Amino acid sequence: MNFISVVVFSIVIHGSWSEEQLKFPPSFMFGAASAAYQVEGGWNVSDKGLSMWDKILHDRPELVANRNNGDVACDSYHLWRRDIEMCEELGLNMYRFSISWSRLLPSGFPNHISEDGKNYYNNLIDGLLEKGIQPLVTMNHFDLPMSLQDLGGWANPLIADWFADYAEVVFSLYADRVKYWLTINEAYIQCDGGYHMEAAPFFEDMKLGRYLCNKNVLIAHAKAYRIYDEQYRYKYHGKVSLSTLFFWFKPFTPEDQEVTDLTIEHWEGRYAHAIFSKEGGWPRKLEKLLNDNAKKEGYWHPRLPPFTPEEIELVRGTYDFYALNHYTTRLVRRVNPGEPPGKWFFEGSDELNTVMFKDPSWPSTPVYWFSVYPPGLREQLNWLNATYDVKEIIITENGVPSLDPGLVDTQRLEYYRDYLEQVLLAINDGVNVTGYTAWTLMDNFEWLSGYIAKFGLYAVDFSDPNRTRTPRESARYYSSVIRSRMIHPPQDKTKLNYV
Ligand code: GAL
Repeated sequence: MNFISVVVFSIVIHGSWSEEQLKFPPSFMFGAASAAYQVEGGWNVSDKGLSMWDKILHDRPELVANRNNGDVACDSYHLWRRDIEMCEELGLNMYRFSISWSRLLPSGFPNHISEDGKNYYNNLIDGLLEKGIQPLVTMNHFDLPMSLQDLGGWANPLIADWFADYAEVVFSLYADRVKYWLTINEAYIQCDGGYHMEAAPFFEDMKLGRYLCNKNVLIAHAKAYRIYDEQYRYKYHGKVSLSTLFFWFKPFTPEDQEVTDLTIEHWEGRYAHAIFSKEGGWPRKLEKLLNDNAKKEGYWHPRLPPFTPEEIELVRGTYDFYALNHYTTRLVRRVNPGEPPGKWFFEGSDELNTVMFKDPSWPSTPVYWFSVYPPGLREQLNWLNATYDVKEIIITENGVPSLDPGLVDTQRLEYYRDYLEQVLLAINDGVNVTGYTAWTLMDNFEWLSGYIAKFGLYAVDFSDPNRTRTPRESARYYSSVIRSRMIHPPQDKTKLNYV
């Protein structure tokens, strides 16, 4: 802890924040986020191609709660003007959305660029800019074109070039106006989830598929970054990164520190080390452990596909900021003798022989994997700052689920307040956090939970063909934070500053 953080820490303990310390820096950007498949609908309008989520959920609707899918979702394909209006109502500085690859390039390749797809995103970008709201654009948020999945998707190394071609089209169309870019959303969920039945393509292949995907995602990101760097940066001066997800992890006992460090490397280092560390490549200790595991299991090739020296150089340093999606925290411990490791990936790892769980003292939410531990965000931000050479961090997702469709969402309002407080504390620790985008602007298609789990600042009436959007209390609260650029002192929940 440095001097400033000691001061801030004691202020928090004593509950006497000065007005200055409750304030976000004037340039801090507040935003909200969404993603194409979760909000757009319009799955077959015009010449749109199929994404893997479109196709797989049509073929296997039982994968999702209530057999829901994103065919219509929030109908943002038609209601984008209302979405911009909501961003304006909230007073957002930034709106994060994603481009549907198969809407822009129906075949997955640049042989044909959809006029309709092109215009849709032009309208959205221009509409936001007219209101003074910066677009933060994700190029791929889980919805790979099915045509590319049929060719092996993220497990095929050729995808790095296919993605680079797509990125080149996207930059050529929009880089004149978009200054913040994310190449790929949460590679961890795409690869580790996609190869563990949690996300499309819904494969179960934890020994090979997820690690092939892991490496290919990194190369794809790097190629896209290099295109921007070489052809667009000098003209437009934008910033490019990829978004990572990790839960924060804490050791159950001090003896579990080593295995907790490995867990962080397994979740984060596998996607971040190659890009953000000075040495590049895989995190060394983890690489050895996983490759030893593979050898013991009789595999002839290393579990983590090796990088060539050229690939290490290609990927290393391909970032302009760190984009962090943070939701919750887990405790980690090594398995006891005879105990099986956690099966599901939020419950532990058979590679690391761990069990992960929630501290029973942390408030729970109606969604079983999610408990509330705000200091985890500050700890994680400090860890990132100390571990990688990051000059700037933007929190690209943070939010809490509920099952209640109603407008009184006290837990969400308090979650935002408490997590934003941790962002302020991290800034006071010396971490350069420059932005925060809440997940999510409005209730939407929440992947395997369909429309049951709700993360929205705005409620959406999914039984209404107009998909009416109504602000929740959390939206009013968030908008008052944005307008005042401050939160109220801790422990003062009776005076949450919302109007
Ligand atoms: C993230 C994902 C979002 C959203 C969120 C809430 O993993 O990027 O699309 O669904 O989780 O679960």
